[in-house]
Amino acid sequence: MKIFLDTASLKEIREAADLGVLDGVTTNPTLLAKENGDPEQSLLEICRIVEGPVSAEVVATDAEGMAREGRHWAALHPNIVVKCPCTAEGLKATRVLSREGHRVNMTLIFSPTQALLSAKAGASFVSPFVGRLDDISTPGMELVADIVNIFGNYRYDCEVLAASLRHPMHVVEAARLGAHIGTMPLSVLNAMLKHPLTDIGLKRFLDDWEKAKKELAVKTTH
Ligand code: E4P
Repeated sequence: MKIFLDTASLKEIREAADLGVLDGVTTNPTLLAKENGDPEQSLLEICRIVEGPVSAEVVATDAEGMAREGRHWAALHPNIVVKCPCTAEGLKATRVLSREGHRVNMTLIFSPTQALLSAKAGASFVSPFVGRLDDISTPGMELVADIVNIFGNYRYDCEVLAASLRHPMHVVEAARLGAHIGTMPLSVLNAMLKHPLTDIGLKRFLDDWEKAKKELAVKTTH
């Protein structure tokens, strides 16, 4: 499973990249708006840090505008993937952009039919928003399961990017279901690594080692 970071924070992206397990980044207008500075420069810097797809979302709502913005984002860096919202206009823009050879991540996917149409339009990624469905008492992970199943039936060349993951169990479930990618905040990535038994075990190993070294030193000086 590929691990993407869902942020526009350069500090967080550098921290995750240093771990050596970061495969890409997803941004959205909300995340970019939280950061200081020019979004274009931020995206370029992200592309310098991460070797992998970096999603940049369009904000136009008509197909022509989306395609125009998408071309602009895509021209910034070869790693940029154009993010389009899953609307009728988004679908039309995805068809145009994918035919021109640009990769599209169809975002705000909340139903299997939206994912199916996105794949047919030529999207390279679909982003089902798990957490936002959970937020309204609808099992978000069932959507991921449906999409993985449907894409498997027809071998669409479109990756399932489980998005809006809010905790490590979301990542575990998405991986169990065979989602190709999970995108998450840094807090979730860090929580995936943490285990109290690892910390306790390591402390015990190091304490025992120090004790043994001291005992050996005492023996050799007598
Ligand atoms: C994905 O591309 C989105 O940016 C993101 O996962 C949304 O997550 P949220 O629902 O926690 O805002």
